[in-house]
Amino acid sequence: MQTTRLPIIIQGGMGAGVSDWRLARAVSTTGQLGVVSGTALDAILARRLQMGDPGGHIRRALDHFPVPGVAARILDRYFVPGGKAASAPFKSKPLPSESPSKAATELLVASNFVEVFLAKEGHDGLVGINFLEKIQVPTLPSLYGAMLAGVSCVLMGAGIPRAIPGVIDQLARGEGVELALDVQGALKGETFTTRFDPAAFWPEGPRTLARPAFYAIIASVTLGVVMARKASGRVDGLIIEGPTAGGHNAPPRGPQSLSIKGEPIYGERDAVDLEAIRALGLPFWLAGSYASPAQIANALEAGAAGVQVGTAFAYCEESGLDATLKQQVLALSRAGRAEVFTDPVASPTGFPFKVVRVPGTLGDPEGPRRTHRLCDLGYLRQAYRKPDGSLGWRCSAEPVDDYVAKGGTPEDAAGRMCLCNGLTANIGLGQARSEAEGGPELPLLTSGDDVATVARFLKPGAATYRAADVVENLLSGVPAAAGA
Ligand SMILES: Cc1cc2nc3c(=O)[nH]c(=O)nc-3n(C[C@H](O)[C@H](O)[C@H](O)COP(=O)(O)O)c2cc1C
Repeated sequence: MQTTRLPIIIQGGMGAGVSDWRLARAVSTTGQLGVVSGTALDAILARRLQMGDPGGHIRRALDHFPVPGVAARILDRYFVPGGKAASAPFKSKPLPSESPSKAATELLVASNFVEVFLAKEGHDGLVGINFLEKIQVPTLPSLYGAMLAGVSCVLMGAGIPRAIPGVIDQLARGEGVELALDVQGALKGETFTTRFDPAAFWPEGPRTLARPAFYAIIASVTLGVVMARKASGRVDGLIIEGPTAGGHNAPPRGPQSLSIKGEPIYGERDAVDLEAIRALGLPFWLAGSYASPAQIANALEAGAAGVQVGTAFAYCEESGLDATLKQQVLALSRAGRAEVFTDPVASPTGFPFKVVRVPGTLGDPEGPRRTHRLCDLGYLRQAYRKPDGSLGWRCSAEPVDDYVAKGGTPEDAAGRMCLCNGLTANIGLGQARSEAEGGPELPLLTSGDDVATVARFLKPGAATYRAADVVENLLSGVPAAAGA
């Protein structure tokens, strides 16, 4: 990373679009590490343009996109001056696949460029980008776009991102890159890959790019050892995420059992031995309910460089979450009624996923369940080998008949929720659908256990708080860091 000093606070990457460029920029200008989420940025950019791009930020950033012709093609396809009608659906965009069209690749590269460009604009603080290892096919063009914008740091979890540090090295040297895909049912020795070649994408482009730092997000010492010793390139740090963190969680180790409420039970085996992590010799940050001065002190005492915080930033003014949802959750938190449920099956990834119990959303325990399934964003589709040896794509949250026709089982489809559509609805970009299609997409809000008390950041009489308030509060016990 382009600094000699490591941040004490990493603002966690929060998808989709919760940690957007505004939030990352706000955190970064305090001297800490602001992180944009890299998830679904192609859809988010396309939809922001169809909302009329209020403030003109996307268009301003696209003006700086250096590859000739791309910005004009994207604007031509998606920009709606003044914004689309509320009842009009967003245009579809290409589904992620192993061999994307030129337009799909351009949208990926440009949208990642735009998000990082805007987060970095007008200051020289650090800006990172967060990806999920599970979402594989957009990764190569996304990394390239973020690196073109000069991203300081790449963070990746939800899988074992061993291949990524090497890919970043190669992209920094201007080389073509390849990523092996996880394909269910692949035969022994059979490999499927995606490719991206910077020289083909932009023949006149720079020969080399700055190499961002790479931080792996992990939940066990075993994974820490793999990343520290066996990754394909340099790993610059580790983020150790515990089971109370927002978003997806690593499943408990050993045989799975559920509590009476139906949540996965975590035990002593899930605690990470920080001595062993320290022995790896890499800087590390602790994540999962670390948003307090006391917890920061604990982390520093355990040898960590600092903490990664998500939930506290998700409800600040600058986050991408819909403002009404934020107010709803802050009111619940103030009333002592903000609760999360760690749903063992909701996410098609198979990882436990934390869902906030908010009335009117998919997390509302009393509310109507979504009855329709419709896979039109497709980020969490899993690649599988078809009988003829070619590659197919399926998601356990797509229509059950379709999933079963592709070789999935009804049991595996049970209880799944469409995260792609739910998460885009969280940020005011949900798809409009007719009543016949099941009505508009509802939000599906995630947060860590910390949401119970997130209203603590509200100053007396205030209805909102800012990212800088969170940073100031967290660093209040670290005198040397104040005003960093
Ligand atoms: C709304 C929300 C969305 C999140 N999305 C992601 C994500 O897309 N990728 C990821 O690696 N972590 C994600 N996280 C986890 C955060 O990056 C961070 O590690 C975590 O929130 C830290 O724990 P805390 O919530 O107790 O502060 C998300 C967290 C929240 C609250």
